[in-house]
Amino acid sequence: MSFRIELAVLSEQKQFCRFGLTVHNLTDQDIADWKLQFIIDRYILPDSFTHGGISQVGSFCTVTPDSQQLIANQHYYCEFSIRTAPLRFYTDGIKDALIITNEGTTTYPVMITPIVLASPYRERSQLPETQSTQLALIPKPSFVECHEGHFHLSESSQITLQASSADKAATWLQQELYELFNFQVQTIGQSDILYRNNPTLDKGEYQLTVSGSGIRLEAGSSIGFVHASATLLQLIQVNSDQSLCVPYVKISDAPRFKYRGMMLDCARHFHPIERVKRLINQLAHYKFNTFHWHLTDDEGWRLEIKAFPELTQVGAYRGTGTPIAPQFSHLSSVYGGYYSQEQVKEIIAYASERGITVIPEIDIPGHCRAAIKSLPHLLQDEEDQSQFRSIQHYTDNVLSPALPGTYEFLDRVLEEVAELFPATWVHIGADEVPDGVWLESPQCQKLMQEHNYQSAKELQGHLLRYAEQKLRKLGKRMVGWEEAQHGNKVSKDTVIYSWLSEEAALNCAKQGFDVILQPGQSTYLDMSQDYSPKEPGVDWAAVIPLESAYHYEPLAEVPDEDPIRKRILGIQCALWCEIITTQQRMDYMVFPRLTAMAEACWTNKNQRDWEDYLSRLKGHLPLLDRQNIEYRQPWK
Ligand code: ACM
Repeated sequence: MSFRIELAVLSEQKQFCRFGLTVHNLTDQDIADWKLQFIIDRYILPDSFTHGGISQVGSFCTVTPDSQQLIANQHYYCEFSIRTAPLRFYTDGIKDALIITNEGTTTYPVMITPIVLASPYRERSQLPETQSTQLALIPKPSFVECHEGHFHLSESSQITLQASSADKAATWLQQELYELFNFQVQTIGQSDILYRNNPTLDKGEYQLTVSGSGIRLEAGSSIGFVHASATLLQLIQVNSDQSLCVPYVKISDAPRFKYRGMMLDCARHFHPIERVKRLINQLAHYKFNTFHWHLTDDEGWRLEIKAFPELTQVGAYRGTGTPIAPQFSHLSSVYGGYYSQEQVKEIIAYASERGITVIPEIDIPGHCRAAIKSLPHLLQDEEDQSQFRSIQHYTDNVLSPALPGTYEFLDRVLEEVAELFPATWVHIGADEVPDGVWLESPQCQKLMQEHNYQSAKELQGHLLRYAEQKLRKLGKRMVGWEEAQHGNKVSKDTVIYSWLSEEAALNCAKQGFDVILQPGQSTYLDMSQDYSPKEPGVDWAAVIPLESAYHYEPLAEVPDEDPIRKRILGIQCALWCEIITTQQRMDYMVFPRLTAMAEACWTNKNQRDWEDYLSRLKGHLPLLDRQNIEYRQPWK
């Protein structure tokens, strides 16, 4: 490669940093009439730019240099400012770059050197050295009694079902025994593994007994049997002759929170269905019961909607010259993908076999750029002169509550979503509608006057109330990010997913909303795991090392007996995927922190202990290895 780009921090203040950018022409050819394209996820102040001009759409920047020539073996230099906290990580730098000439008909790849950071960084101390425990169970069960001895699985071991609701769990156990331990249970043989109905156990609860007479899994619900199977998989020990045994044990276990979720963003980068399934399977291993599928955003629409094929024909792909433009990566190719309705059904069935409910998210009214670019005839308000910039630097990504097309779009999309997803909850997003939106739209102004609305927030509430009522007619309960209550229009039946802070969560609970806790400061798995610049990740909410993830204790300040706690249905962690381009990166960001989050979701407060968790984690790592998970090594 013969061009190289270098970004360096020149100065940094609390929320204002200046950068120098150099493009080296290492070839022996002069380049004329050239432009530089690159990807960066912060907004460059155009007036601060020297030696040329810059335009930016989301993370996609185009520089038109003052000097039309980039001379062989010379360089181009410019400076600019960004209103940002000091950058700490190489992943904060330029992600992809390209030189174009001849109106874009000729392109030259550009090598990117890691950003030269100015901030000193703190190396964290190593985790304490820990002995691994024999029973490396994560999340920690409520009650475990160990006994001397092991039960040996044999070539004639068979699974026996004495519970009709255990069939999915038994099939999953069988698959995992084969995948992880290359062990095949027999269809006829000894009833070594017995699933038995126990109607005294509540949903999710289970008992697992291993003794000389075999392995007995008891539950009163199909999900209870899945959890029992997950625990059994973690108990299996491999002997030196590769045969399997399980220590004698008696376990009684029940979840702390009834909702235990993970959100995956499939819009910023598209994750193929095998990757989605892999994550869902991992969630089952850690006793999660909900997969929140973030299917739409500014940078991609990922769900086939038969009424509007444009949503995926246009909205699922981005690249130079396409309506969405490249974002986050892949500057020099068309990038994207979507899930057909058949594939969605496949994922839902796969999750259901593992006790996991799939909740779809259609994010409105902000984060809608891909939809608007796909259906401009319905969704674009031509007369709107409002000036705004979204958190990801878009000026054109919000649905209009005043356009009839918005309602037609919502009706058709929600009808298909309601039909496709059996979950009773549908997530409607509602986050991050930028200030300034709708104010200069004559149609929005008219709507505000008709209803005597005082602020744009009420317009947002107007649209969300419509969505709530539509969903109710379709037999669904609307759930949304905490901004869903802005404008005070939706009913208290809406479940609030709180991401901004615990204070905001409590505020919603006090108003009478049921709440799922997903505070970015503790549960966002795209946050870096340490302070070294080499750590991939972002840090706008926090740096979240394993220890902080483990220590997340919801509403620690609220007394146990406070009735407000009843409004907290559970916890969810999230993987936003601006920087998640590969399976390897996903594994690194998710593991082992997911195991820490699992314990926050499942295990009672008084049974959680950091050092005890670490010793279980140490013993548990071989099982992550068996799943081929490329986790971040906790002990380096
Ligand atoms: C969010 O992080 N915007 C929900």
